[in-house]
Amino acid sequence: MEEIAMPETLAFDIYGTLVDPLKMEEKLEPFAGEKAGHLAKLWREKQLEYTFRRALMRRYEDFGVCTRQALAFATQSVGLELSREDERNLISAYQSLPAFEDALPGLRALRSQGHEMSAFSNGVEESARKVLEQAGLFEYLNTVISADEVKSFKPDPEVYRHACERLGGAPEEVWLVSSNPFDVIGAKSFGMRAAWVRRDPKTLLDPWDIEPDLVVRDLLHLAKELG
Ligand code: 2OP
Repeated sequence: MEEIAMPETLAFDIYGTLVDPLKMEEKLEPFAGEKAGHLAKLWREKQLEYTFRRALMRRYEDFGVCTRQALAFATQSVGLELSREDERNLISAYQSLPAFEDALPGLRALRSQGHEMSAFSNGVEESARKVLEQAGLFEYLNTVISADEVKSFKPDPEVYRHACERLGGAPEEVWLVSSNPFDVIGAKSFGMRAAWVRRDPKTLLDPWDIEPDLVVRDLLHLAKELG
């Protein structure tokens, strides 16, 4: 007899997990040439740093503002001056970030197993939905839960509490699925379950003695583990 998977409640991180922010390298290339890879990485690092600092300082500005200010910092740091128009174009390209190769088949496989699946992101709902639609992933997800709804950012425990409340589950019944180590540790620290999507085996989890429940290579591997 075929075994039926137990349906789980899965909350998928978006940036870095479903779509790849480092792919902005291609859009930065015309401006920054061989520095484009470095710039894309710095942009992402600063974006996250700004969310952490703003949550800690209680100086909330949404993810779009953090993204814009991080781009300004990153370009200035390499002595690049972008016109307003170029800046606008880059920010709008951020809304069409490509999906990781395994994201679509992985979500499809998980969906067919009957899991409750939602997106859960620091991004504001409208932009997060747009990025998922552009990447062809939105149809596999029930809803988008945004940290913006509580005016803070992951890994603030309030953000994870909000996600669990919206999903109607006790923390230990809700899975965070994320590639971002800070997110995995944040969710586990709050009491959720967490699957760490470790596409690059060189990525390290911070040695805080807080471990994910599952480590998977990609979303297809997650479907196999939960199936
Ligand atoms: C997100 O989508 C943190 O980038 C991560 O929330």
